[in-house]
Amino acid sequence: MDELAALRLQIVWGADEILLPAPQDRRAAKLAAVDVAAVKPKSVPQPVPMLPAGPADARKIAEKCLTLEDLSAALRDFTGCELRDTATHLVFADGAADARVMLIGDAPGAEEDRAGQPFAGPAGQLLDKMLASIGLDRNKVRLTNIVPWRPPGDRPPTEAEIAVCLPFLQRHIALLKPDCLILLGTVAAKAMLPTQYGHTGIGRLRGKWHSIEIPGGIGSVPCLASYHPMYLLRMPAAKRDSWHDLLALRAWLDSET
Ligand code: URA
Repeated sequence: MDELAALRLQIVWGADEILLPAPQDRRAAKLAAVDVAAVKPKSVPQPVPMLPAGPADARKIAEKCLTLEDLSAALRDFTGCELRDTATHLVFADGAADARVMLIGDAPGAEEDRAGQPFAGPAGQLLDKMLASIGLDRNKVRLTNIVPWRPPGDRPPTEAEIAVCLPFLQRHIALLKPDCLILLGTVAAKAMLPTQYGHTGIGRLRGKWHSIEIPGGIGSVPCLASYHPMYLLRMPAAKRDSWHDLLALRAWLDSET
């Protein structure tokens, strides 16, 4: 056995004092070990395992929020949705805190993620023009999304991501108390409308007023589904139907004042 192998064997046997910075008195160490055992508490507190937060936890957190600022702060601290790990910013909302109309898109994209503002990119520019055509602007309405973080690669949010973020959106609606909701696109319509509409495409859902029950004591809120402005950028032919939806919104707002 060469010298190196002999040294390795010493380490295997536990003779590693040579590696310590100061000499060790083994006898004193044994006594100390006995003393430690004598004062050892009977039960050592165990670390509480961190379980991923689900929709029920999200609802408890959201329901405690009494203001929009509380809600935004609670979302900022919420770790139950993995989208936050890949996003740069939380995209909470834009527009008035006393808006009559709340428009809900699906999820922030790259520009929104950079700016921390919903509808900051090309879809937002088209949305601004659409709102202007019926005498509204983004400072008079409220803009938000089904999920407040950008999904990686702009994929649609998954059902689990939607489910865990929905209690925050519902609380947002309950605190803001808008007169009506505008659901922009399939993801928003399917997430917000009752499940009986689950397999219906936006082409059939749009243009009709529905009613959505919102938890949190505000009862039901009228809502209109329409095409997402991003879809309109790709499919300009759908702008005609979208224009009808905007006129329906204008007429509804005028009839309610
Ligand atoms: N699309 C959305 O649904 N929301 C945004 O904020 C931007 C693009």
